[in-house]
This record gives sequence, structure tokens and C-alpha cells, in this order.
Amino acid sequence: MCGIVGIVGSTPVAPLIVEALKRLEYRGYDSAGVATVEHGKLERRRAEGKLVNLERRLKSEPLDGFIGIGHTRWATHGVPNEVNAHPHFSKDVAIVHNGIIENFAELKAELQKDGYEFTSQTDTEVVAHLVSRELARGKAPQDAAFAALKRLEGAFALAIMFRGDEDLIVGARNGPPLAVGHGEGEMYLGSDAIALAPFTNSITYLEDGDWVVVRRNEMQIHDMSGAPVERKRTQSVGTSFLVDKGNFHHFMQKEIHEQPEVISHTLANYLDFTTGTAKPIELPFDFAKIDRLSISACGTAYLAGLIGKYWFERLARLPVDIDVASEFRYREMPISPDSAALFISQSGETADTLASLRYCRKAGVPITAIVNVRESTIARESDAIFPTLAGPEIGVASTKAFTCQLAVLASLAVRAARARGHVDAKQEQALVRQLSETPRIASQVLKLAEQIEKVSRQLAKVKNVLYLGRDTNYPLAMEGALKLKEISYIHAEGYAAGELKHGPIALIDEKMPVIVIAPHDRIFEKTVSNMQEVAARGGKIILITDQKGAAQTSLQTMETIVLPDVPEIITPIVYALPIQMLAYYTAVFMGTDVDQPRNLAKSVTVE
Ligand code: AGP
Repeated sequence: MCGIVGIVGSTPVAPLIVEALKRLEYRGYDSAGVATVEHGKLERRRAEGKLVNLERRLKSEPLDGFIGIGHTRWATHGVPNEVNAHPHFSKDVAIVHNGIIENFAELKAELQKDGYEFTSQTDTEVVAHLVSRELARGKAPQDAAFAALKRLEGAFALAIMFRGDEDLIVGARNGPPLAVGHGEGEMYLGSDAIALAPFTNSITYLEDGDWVVVRRNEMQIHDMSGAPVERKRTQSVGTSFLVDKGNFHHFMQKEIHEQPEVISHTLANYLDFTTGTAKPIELPFDFAKIDRLSISACGTAYLAGLIGKYWFERLARLPVDIDVASEFRYREMPISPDSAALFISQSGETADTLASLRYCRKAGVPITAIVNVRESTIARESDAIFPTLAGPEIGVASTKAFTCQLAVLASLAVRAARARGHVDAKQEQALVRQLSETPRIASQVLKLAEQIEKVSRQLAKVKNVLYLGRDTNYPLAMEGALKLKEISYIHAEGYAAGELKHGPIALIDEKMPVIVIAPHDRIFEKTVSNMQEVAARGGKIILITDQKGAAQTSLQTMETIVLPDVPEIITPIVYALPIQMLAYYTAVFMGTDVDQPRNLAKSVTVE
């Protein structure tokens, strides 16, 4: 969840480190810091809050060293303040860390007994002291680092630098990603290739348990036993440009508006619109032969998977088990040898999703993943990936990645349905044609922004919101609630509309807005009955429906948002847009930090 960078350079590196950290700020943004070695001495600047604060500090107190490490933090141990900001020092050692050292309490007690004093509340500081103690015992810097690494339990990516050595950074990976960038007379370390894109696209990814000695003109990777190992060098496709907001106020707003285009690219990757067929794709299993598909993911990606379950089961008659990854990895479910596993992740780095993937790997089933970042760990550890072509998603609240995940899931469900003989060529053509209409309809829906902005002004005044939906719009109701709470901090819950009277109805009074997602489908009348129950108790209904639905209800609503009539298969994709816009404008009226909401991070690399 934190971002780390290291540069052994040929000019002052602090501005380059800040440039790289800007590209990692999505990983965490509660404090940041840079350390360099200059004239043999360790120097550092740290600042609480966003990276701009560190930039300001560096302007007034520059650092001149040609070697340095940097960090942008998402707090796990210790409040976000300057003292807890990385890099952490211990005498001759500077260190930046992403992850959690699980045995830090035990190590801390041991180091304190040996006279080491702790200045921060972080788990990271133990690593700095451990390396320092090995140096004091007479080990050379890289041996001291290796000895310390052997004592650590937990998940970590580390970069370690030493006083007096202006040509050495030791990096290590156990869990969270770490990449080495190869330059001309310069070497780099970074949490991902995007961070290093301004300097190089020649990248070597460390594998779990690897540690690396990085110098200006060489690098050597070692495995856990200390033996040198070779890892493949790849050309990264990360863009060297920092993605900007264009004419939009926030990345989230821009990303919402990009959806017609990116959904279209994604669908075109899987569907042939000319022939009306799902394109053949390389699969490590046969859809016709598997007896189950097991999906796991976190947050919004999980909710996309939940919608996918409806499609796979209804269209392809393929049973789907779906779990939030943090539960899946520990619940020891029996895995059928005839099943396949599918993981969904925008970042491709989510720790719980990755752990679930590795659990399934041990069980020996084929592993596939829907990812937005093709060079991510989840992508690299899968037998096959289904990329979303959403482009970089910067806003912490996922929008375009979600609808692109849905586009992939719907396309795969069509493919599976045909392979399993549950749709014929004609039905396949009809489904592909319906899906091909999504981008055009999504553009029309974006034109409702003004109406949605108006109703959001009212939502910004409330404390609680309930979302209701049935069928694929039930997971979408949960996604609406998740979106609203993460960026506006308003408490929201998403429920299956039929569950209303089994509990949540007790919450309804005249202060409670209820957002109902109800296209005119097979079960529309059932949802209308639920709305009647809300109205009878004074609840304020915001109805999101289509023209047919609007024409058929005479209910008094606080607002009715009318979307075009759309085929059933694309409703969750199309209805996601008003849901996202409601959350976006509400947050804007609340004055929150829409793109970087409090306590969250874009990439969750700790469990
Ligand atoms: C989405 O708005 C959230 N920020 C979050 O739930 C996210 O979807 C989740 O952390 C999973 O991330 P991933 O897709 O990168 O694995």
C-alpha cells in the first residue's frame, strides 16, 4: 500500500525520486519522504500529508546526493505524521518499506534489550535497527541486509541504503511487488514499472523471496538461500507521461466519462461485432468440461464478480462460487479438480486476491485473471489473463475498471454459454449485438450528469442512504453504497430489494433516501412493491429506471432518473454510470478529497 523508490544515479536524485513517487501516490498518500547519501552522510526530508508537502520541504531544504530512496506512505503501524514517515534511519542505515513486519513486536523487544532506541511507532524501524546491528557485528552492508532479511516474517518490499556507500542499494521482496529498472550508468528500484517509466522501460521483476544488490552499473538478484539467480528482463509498456485530468475537475470524473470508449475497446478485444461471435481466446481449460468456476476478488472487483456469477449461471449454466478473497484464502473450501479459478483485480497486486490465487495454484486448478495492469503480480502468476482495456485508473474509487471488468465477464459468459451448448449461434449473435450497444448507451447516460448533480446536492445533506436492487442490480446496489461511502463518507448500505422487509425496513423514515435501481425487467413489479413499502413509511425514493419503468409507476419519488431502455444483459454496466455519478457529485458537494479519499489506497498490498 506504500510506494517505494530507489535510484543509484549520476545526477542529484531527489527530484527524480519525487517524480517517481508522484506516480506511486495512488498507493498511499498520508506522508512521504526521501533520503540520500551525500558526502558520505545520510540525509533525509520527510513531510506529513500529500507529496506536495515533501516537494515544498525539498525546495527550501534541497538534497544533493546522487543516490537515494523515497517513500509514499499508507499507515499500518503508527499514525500518519512526520516521525512515522519513511525513510527510517538507524545509525548508518536508511530504509523504506512497503508491507507489514508481522514479528516486529518480538524483534523490537530483542533490539531494545540490545540498547537500540526507537523513535517511531512503525514496524519498519525494526528492520533498520536489525541491519544496523549486523553492521555493528562486523558484516559488510549487503551481508548485513541479508542477515536481517532472514529474521523478518510478514510481507515486505524494502530498499536499504548505507552511510558511506554511494553505489549500493539493497532491495528485497516478500509479497508486495518490487522491480529493478536498468538505465545507462544508473539503476532504479520501484514498486512498479509505471514509477520507473520516466527513466527506463527495461525492467526485471523480483520474485517472492528475492533480494537484490543494485549498483550504478550492475545488479545481482539472490534467492532466499543467498544464491545468485537470474530473472527475466522485460520491456515495460508503462507510459512515461504522468496521466493528467484533462478538462475535468477530478480523475474520477474523467474516468467516469472515459467509459464509453474504454468499454468499447474492452468489448472489441473479446467479441467480433462483424460476425456476432465471441472471439476465440487461449484458455488453460475448456468451458465445456469444467464443473464449476471459482471467483475471488476484493471490493469493487468482488462486486463485478458477483454480477458475473448471474451471467455465467444464467447463460452458461456454469455454477460459480464467489468469495471475497480475504475469506476465501482462509476458509479451506474443497476445490473440485474439474473446476477453474478466476481472480479479478484492477491493480493485479491486491494481497488477499494474490494469496487466494496461490491457494488455488497449490490445489492444481487452472488459474485465470481479469486484470487492468498487465505486468502486475497476479497477471504474471496466472495461466491466462483477460485484460481490461480501461487504461490507468488513478481515482481511488474504481469506475471505468469496474465497467470494463463487467464487459469482460459478460463476454466470457457468452463464450462459455456457447461452448457449453446453452446458446446457439443465433442467440450468441443477439447477445454480442446487445453488448455492442453498451458504449453508445453509456454516452447517452453521461448526458444525465446535470440532473444527477442536482439530486446529489440533496444527498450531501443526509447521514445514511439505502440502495436496493434485484438480480444483477443487487450487487450494483452494493457497489453504489461502496462508492458513496468511500468518497463522501456518508454511511450507505446496498441490499437485495427482497430483503428489505427482513430487517433494513426498520431504518426507513422521512430522513432516509432509498436509491432503487430498477430497470423494467422480469421482476420489475416485485421491486415496485418494495418501493411502495418504502413510500408507505415516508422514505424518500430516488428511482433509477428506464422509459418503460418510469411510464409504469405512479409512485411519488424524490427524483426519477430515466435511462434508455436497454437489453437485460447490459443493465448492470449501463446502470453503473448514474450510480458512480451520484457518488461523485455528492462527494464534490461534501467537499471531500474525491480522488484520494481519507484512509484508502488504490493498491492494497497488505492483508
Ligand atoms: C473500489 O472503489 C475500491 N477502491 C476497492 O474496493 C477496490 O476495488 C479493491 O481494493 C480491489 O482492488 P483491485 O481491483 O486492485 O484488486
